[in-house]
Amino acid sequence: MSEIGLMEAMYSARALRRLKPDPVPEEIITQILDAAIRAPSAGNSQHWAFVVVRNPEVRRQLGLIYRKASDIAKAVYQGRARTAHMTDEQYQRMMSSGAHLWEHMGEAPVLLVPCLRDRPPPRRETLPPAVQSIYEEELVYTDRIRGASIYPAVQNIILACRAFGLGTLITTHHIRCEGEVKALLGIPDGVLTYALMPIGYPEDKFGPVQRRPVSEVTYADRWSTAWPG
Ligand SMILES: Cc1cc2nc3c(=O)[nH]c(=O)nc-3n(C[C@H](O)[C@H](O)[C@H](O)COP(=O)(O)O)c2cc1C
Repeated sequence: MSEIGLMEAMYSARALRRLKPDPVPEEIITQILDAAIRAPSAGNSQHWAFVVVRNPEVRRQLGLIYRKASDIAKAVYQGRARTAHMTDEQYQRMMSSGAHLWEHMGEAPVLLVPCLRDRPPPRRETLPPAVQSIYEEELVYTDRIRGASIYPAVQNIILACRAFGLGTLITTHHIRCEGEVKALLGIPDGVLTYALMPIGYPEDKFGPVQRRPVSEVTYADRWSTAWPG
């Protein structure tokens, strides 16, 4: 593999939803996952697990679940105002690319499902009194940061795919029908899925990734003091 630079990967790894059916070599999938697990996790718990789905029938069924879940997503999107920073054209392009995936998710040669095992906090009575008294807040905190132990790995997957010339993106619609996904894949209780990532050689080109400028989203020292850059 001729490596591309990290910055080039970040600036060009856009969401690619149109993928060729050509198979992805198993050793490349392993290398992508080996990059994924370099990611940080809370307390270095590494309580992640990944299901790699290549079986055509299982992919087809996952695709159907994604299709069903996307109908709900579509209705939610219709009730939401278009984000101001996107032009009509950019928004329509994103929506039509998204709609393509509703119909074709199951045709990607690899569907990757990043998961996390449950990591319950210690029981209240095992903690010092000062923490027992704020136990509910601790639970809220734990809930709030849960995804932060898997989404860095998801981003590593996106970048590693880019390095291998593979298209992918993070999708989450399936979580609306997660019970069906877990039943289909035999995922046990105490494990949750966090993304469904189609992976394959892209029909379209990589990048450039378009974003609002740093100056619009950054403050210096204090909220609402403009960042000079
Ligand atoms: C939390 C999250 C959930 C997403 N879920 C979906 C999804 O279910 N389906 C989909 O097509 N794209 C999904 N996306 C992809 C976004 O639409 C995409 O990252 C965004 O439009 C930017 O695309 P770009 O990098 O090509 O500019 C999701 C992205 C994130 C961060």
